[in-house]
Amino acid sequence: MSTLSRLNVPCQLVIGAGASETVGEEARRLKVKRALVLTDPGLAEAGLAETVCAYLSRAGVEAVVYGRVQPDPTDVNIEEGLNLLRGNDCDAVVGVGGGSSMDAAKAVSVMSANSGTIADYMGYHKVPNAGVPIIAIPTTAGTGSEVTKVVVIGDTKRNVKMMCLDLNFLPSVALVDYRLSMTMPRTLTANVGIDSLVHAVEAYISSKAHPTTDCLALSAISLITANIRTAWTQPNNEAAREAMMLGATQAGMAFSNSSVALVHGMSRPIGANFHLPHGLSNGVLVPAVMRYNAPACVDRFAVIAHAMGLDVAGLSDEQAAERAVDAFDQLNRDLEIPRLSECDISAESFERALPKMAADAIASGSPANNPRVPSAEEIIDLYRQAY
Ligand SMILES: NC(=O)c1ccc[n+]([C@@H]2O[C@H](COP(=O)([O-])OP(=O)(O)OC[C@H]3O[C@@H](n4cnc5c(N)ncnc54)[C@H](O)[C@@H]3O)[C@@H](O)[C@H]2O)c1
Ligand SMILES: [Fe+2]
Repeated sequence: MSTLSRLNVPCQLVIGAGASETVGEEARRLKVKRALVLTDPGLAEAGLAETVCAYLSRAGVEAVVYGRVQPDPTDVNIEEGLNLLRGNDCDAVVGVGGGSSMDAAKAVSVMSANSGTIADYMGYHKVPNAGVPIIAIPTTAGTGSEVTKVVVIGDTKRNVKMMCLDLNFLPSVALVDYRLSMTMPRTLTANVGIDSLVHAVEAYISSKAHPTTDCLALSAISLITANIRTAWTQPNNEAAREAMMLGATQAGMAFSNSSVALVHGMSRPIGANFHLPHGLSNGVLVPAVMRYNAPACVDRFAVIAHAMGLDVAGLSDEQAAERAVDAFDQLNRDLEIPRLSECDISAESFERALPKMAADAIASGSPANNPRVPSAEEIIDLYRQAY
């Protein structure tokens, strides 16, 4: 564990019922005149962009809407959003939606002040200039993108999901209002909930973990594991939704300041090749990868078992770690997370894609932070176990 640690979080983090309604005052505080509101077609249709525009207007801030962010946004979305921002002289972006809408807003902000295309900023700390201020409002619980310095954008030419990490992607303001997540259907609740749990677990077992990320990660693991089943079976349960949203945001702060690891490294190539939603592509990998990871950090898995609320009294660290691994399996079963072979992916196309997927996973850098750093062959073997 490093003795020197850094924590990057938004300057203003408003959490709780009604947080999203403060978007107008927050924009005014940042001296914004005209904001570009980015969201996806489903949420635009549901009237969410209009609602946000009304909050902005109430505070005297004009708004232009880009409502075409696709799930797992691409470089094309970023170009379209940027053209709209420039054409309308917008001086801030507001990303409202899941990770896709927030990531698109963050990327458009960065491209407002930097040359080239978003592909030029793939990797770590490559963005020279800060863009227009970013306000992020999550509607899923969730990616944690509202508090992270990370974006994931699809490169339509190379068919890869690019991970870009830089302080200039960090929102100035995050408005975390669990009420916006209450409309999530069951499958989405499971997928995004598993994503946030994996953020927390990977942040905790990462070689980049430090004491502050540990405490955020463990709190998130407790909140998520105690509430995910209730949120899934009772979508209108406010207490469970609130806890899930808080857990997702804490998990975002944890991984953004520690790192994600092997599950995320392996899941992005699944998303790029087979177009599974991000949370699901993580979920299908969890049982195999956690079983692979546990022996490398038994003590940390024992603490995870505690945080998951498992009965580990009197057990050795090895036994407690085994319980944690079993609990991940059970959670997948309870939330009906399928195996990869049940996701409409033929065995032939899967086998064909494996070498490139393993190479892309390693190239992303995430597996290097895993407590056990895998070879390409081991990654291929783990993919096969998840199929
Ligand atoms: N930047 C980061 O730190 C980070 C971290 C993890 C994942 N990601 C990225 O985030 C993206 C995934 O985001 P996501 O999983 O939040 O989903 P999403 O933004 O892709 O949205 C998925 C679907 O859910 C719908 N939806 C969103 N909120 C809803 C609500 N409250 N009620 C009903 N429907 C709703 C949307 O309309 C959309 O159709 C991926 O591209 C992933 O790579 C980013
Ligand atoms: Fe994720």
